[in-house]
Amino acid sequence: MGRSIKTPLCERLEIDLPIFSAGMGPIAGPELVAAVSNAGGLGVLGCTTMSPEQVRTVIRSTRELTDRPFGVDLILPARIDQGGATITDVATQIPSAHREAAARIATDLGVNRSERSTNHEPDRNALGTDAEAQIQVVLEEGVPVFVGALGSPGFVVDRFHEAGAVVMSVVGNTKQAVSVARDGADVVIAQGTEGGGHTGHVGTLALLPQVLDAVEVPVVAAGGIGDGRGLAAALVMGCEAVWIGTRFLATEEAGIAGWQKAGLVNAADQSPVISRAYTGKRFRLLPNQWTEAWEAADLDPLPMPLQPVLTELTLGSWATDSGGKEGISMNGAGNIVGLVKEVVPAAEVVRQMAQNALACLDDMPPRGTGAR
Ligand SMILES: Cc1cc2nc3c(=O)[nH]c(=O)nc-3n(C[C@H](O)[C@H](O)[C@H](O)COP(=O)(O)O)c2cc1C
Repeated sequence: MGRSIKTPLCERLEIDLPIFSAGMGPIAGPELVAAVSNAGGLGVLGCTTMSPEQVRTVIRSTRELTDRPFGVDLILPARIDQGGATITDVATQIPSAHREAAARIATDLGVNRSERSTNHEPDRNALGTDAEAQIQVVLEEGVPVFVGALGSPGFVVDRFHEAGAVVMSVVGNTKQAVSVARDGADVVIAQGTEGGGHTGHVGTLALLPQVLDAVEVPVVAAGGIGDGRGLAAALVMGCEAVWIGTRFLATEEAGIAGWQKAGLVNAADQSPVISRAYTGKRFRLLPNQWTEAWEAADLDPLPMPLQPVLTELTLGSWATDSGGKEGISMNGAGNIVGLVKEVVPAAEVVRQMAQNALACLDDMPPRGTGAR
């Protein structure tokens, strides 16, 4: 390998390759994260749905599997002052029309009440309401990279900087990019609408050059990147790394069920849709019986954390569990899913992506020939 794709951001993070695996709830657990970091990229744990103690456990488990740098990703609430609202607290705020509709759908789908309740913890804090306590653990454990999604990380930037960590923020448009950079984020991850999970309205190819022009900090490309061509394109534009979700779902280490991985292999580019059924926010996923029944019920989605609590109360741990249940488990996926042809070790994804990106960059016709 004569050429290198190591960027200044790689140097700063002390990693070899500009390939990050995205935080994806518990799917991005210690096995996936360690595999990506051991392969020279940066694995990022998805800790949003975990209690502070679980966050500590997965960080420590990851450290047992790798001595390379890795990160933690958390969805940040719009306001941090709602700390500690439990599932039971939030449930009282759910309108009865939504509860009744959800209960009817559950009956139609044959969701078994007692099975559904397994692992259900009414005292657990609702999604996004525990961020302060989760962040405290990430700081205590000395994780070198913190990634905040949805909300701005502005309120924690100083604490992470004092701890020597790099703060990244996932955004979906240029205005958000400018705002989080102004709030002190060290790196902006710009995700186009084609990305899996929570997603905005602007396509990756339109978003990246505008964000690159608007902020001084390094930009990481996300949304629809699944192979070396996507990585090469991002680097040519001026991005310093890629943040990849969907392609890492179909790996041996990803924490989803086998039938979900098979579903990804069989899906096409147009298979994923946007649904608010699980979290109340736009989430790109492969549709299933729950999303379709929710759509047909024609109810306004509730704001976070109400909608995720409604989903959990209705579907139980099946909603987001790695164990999964066909028809009701959330299957996040982006439009690049059609590129996924087989389930492979995560290290293989990293290796091939890096190798193919280098080949693309070597093959590029010289500037100004019009063939570019
Ligand atoms: C199944 C799934 C779950 C996700 N969960 C989270 C999450 O918990 N936190 C987060 O910041 N992003 C989450 N995302 C978004 C990813 O971090 C990432 O931005 C996105 O997958 C990138 O686009 P791609 O799927 O085209 O690679 C999720 C994505 C998927 C596919």
